[in-house]
Amino acid sequence: MKSMRAALICLFLLCAAPSIPAAVLAGGPGSMTGDAEEGDAMAGALDTIPLPAVPAKGGVSIEEAIWLRRSVRGFSEEIPGADAVSLLLWAAQGITDAKNGLRSAPSAGATYPLEIFLATAGYVARYIPEKHCLVVTMREDARKALAGAAIEQNWFAGAPLVFIFTAVVKRTADRYDERANLYVPIEVGCASENLMLEAAALGLGSVAVGAFSEKEVRKTLRLPKGWDPYLIVPVGVPSK
Ligand SMILES: Cc1cc2nc3c(=O)[nH]c(=O)nc-3n(C[C@H](O)[C@H](O)[C@H](O)COP(=O)(O)O)c2cc1C
Repeated sequence: MKSMRAALICLFLLCAAPSIPAAVLAGGPGSMTGDAEEGDAMAGALDTIPLPAVPAKGGVSIEEAIWLRRSVRGFSEEIPGADAVSLLLWAAQGITDAKNGLRSAPSAGATYPLEIFLATAGYVARYIPEKHCLVVTMREDARKALAGAAIEQNWFAGAPLVFIFTAVVKRTADRYDERANLYVPIEVGCASENLMLEAAALGLGSVAVGAFSEKEVRKTLRLPKGWDPYLIVPVGVPSK
């Protein structure tokens, strides 16, 4: 029911709101401020960013991507384009079986508790797998606050793309009770590794950042009640 509602709102936004050109994925300082209310992830949604379609095949094998992946903590100022953003989000949580609504990463009972946010220089947005689009929730640069929340790991305050893996544990707990507390972090691991391998395949650097204050990240992203942050993954072109 909730996902149906989110899909309907996203569809409405796609029709009603002006879409943001791909170049804006880079982000520039915004003027509007999101005002999400607890319990309603779509409250304060400001705009949608449609993402380019994902090609059926890439040029790098899974083995090459695994060989290539290494934690990167220094990024150049070059901003990955819309195609890269699209592939990274799709790899993490994109729909790969439209008929059955199944996604790129496994999920216990296909309960899909994960919600992925992207923070750039200009906005924070939430990924909507069903529409393969981003919904802007805040028009501001949250990266410095996120790095501060990650015990001052300020090296990622300038990373062009900062992905935040959050989860609504209740979706899984409704079916699996306390096992959800195990299943959800496993799913975060599956989805984030997909994203990091995709980054490697695209020649981008990434790193899993788990050391942060949940409370501060929740506050920075204005997460609705019951949405918990699990992992931050900064991505960018590795600095020389
Ligand atoms: C759950 C988890 C949390 C991590 N947290 C951080 C972190 O807060 N900061 C950081 O710089 N690296 C973090 N790392 C990255 C590890 O330091 C890194 O994966 C490890 O040194 C191995 O290097 P590699 O990723 O290049 O193989 C984390 C990795 C994992 C899996």
